[in-house]
Amino acid sequence: MKEKQQFSLTALFDTPDEIIRAAHETRSAGYTRYDVHTPYPVHGMDKAMGLRQSRLGIFVLIFGLFGAVSSVLFMTWVTLVDYPLVIGGKPFWSWPAFVPVAFEITVLMASVLLVVTMIVLYFKFPNISHPLHDTPYMKRISSDKFGISIQVDDPKFNEREVREFLYKIGGKEITPVYFDLEDLDHGQTMFDPKFLGVLALTAILVSGATYAVFNQLMFMEPFSWMSTQAKQKAQRPSDLFKDGIGMRPPVEGTVARGFLPYLFKGKPDEAGKNLVNPLFATKEVIERGKATYLTYCSPCHGNFARGDSRLRGQFPNPPTLHSDKVRNWPDGSIYHVITEGQNVMPAYASQISRDDRWAIIHYLRVLQRAHNAKESDLK
Ligand code: HEC
Repeated sequence: MKEKQQFSLTALFDTPDEIIRAAHETRSAGYTRYDVHTPYPVHGMDKAMGLRQSRLGIFVLIFGLFGAVSSVLFMTWVTLVDYPLVIGGKPFWSWPAFVPVAFEITVLMASVLLVVTMIVLYFKFPNISHPLHDTPYMKRISSDKFGISIQVDDPKFNEREVREFLYKIGGKEITPVYFDLEDLDHGQTMFDPKFLGVLALTAILVSGATYAVFNQLMFMEPFSWMSTQAKQKAQRPSDLFKDGIGMRPPVEGTVARGFLPYLFKGKPDEAGKNLVNPLFATKEVIERGKATYLTYCSPCHGNFARGDSRLRGQFPNPPTLHSDKVRNWPDGSIYHVITEGQNVMPAYASQISRDDRWAIIHYLRVLQRAHNAKESDLK
């Protein structure tokens, strides 16, 4: 026979008002090791029992701060040490960009670690036994009764006195609860290899089954009529054409709509000689050139084309555009550099429309004139 030990003396009550009063009386009588059980949360119980505020709030604060600080430190390390990258000419340590990430990590850490703390520290998971489990008392409580359980380890506990006290405050069915030391402490801990094994197995089974169901069993190609339609793919053979090649060259002697071939490919001198700026230097055109210049050119060439790049040495600094060379260039030569690029400067034909390129040149001329004003300009 196993040794049975007494855990507590329990009493049942019928209404929430009674249990609140009973909790209050128990507390006033000086008992400290007791608990109250109700089938649903009863308002005012924490006050009646004199419960202190839960310490979980402090855990949340600690975990949240941990999330905030660690995410900001991580992003600092990434942007300053591991992979400094200029993005839109902004400083490396650009804190507004960190706010959403820091916020999310803060909430994530606070909530996830809080649940883990609650389960492991407070509920002593995976040890799930409690002397009150499976008692007739608990069965009544989880149905329609309210109950108080005053524990034997209360310093004031005295079987006879407690029995009288419970009776006096209106308790019914006053019964002792016994437990088996052996049953209660089945030695289950977080780090028990058996427990960890079951945990790992469960994880593998669940994720495997999820994968199989969603990616194999239930997988349906979204919008399959788009990807499986009969069509000609570039780089693929085709029986439709005699030469068996899917990718077709443009029909000879034609020009694609909206596309003007550039006649001076690889011929900067000819571009300079033959191209003429089709735009007039009106206020609107210069404004437009300024906006385009500031967007596309200024990161490398600087806001005033002095070659003061904002790229911190991550790209070779370009020369100033106020040199005699560029000032004496015809517009066509500058147009050629923007269109085709020059040495390390990339081509901008695909990003900047033809008119915008010419507008930039008008704006560049304004900048050049401002830097090298003639005597007559100053009068
Ligand atoms: C990615 C950086 C970068 C951007 C953006 C850029 N450039 Fe350049 N540019 C350079 C570099 C570097 C050179 C020098 C190339 C060389 O070594 O010949 C250069 C050269 C030039 C030159 C010739 C200067 C000379 O003395 O030979 C002109 C004109 C010029 N850029 C105009 C522009 C204009 C206009 C834009 C905007 C559409 C622009 N660049 C955008 C990097 C840039």
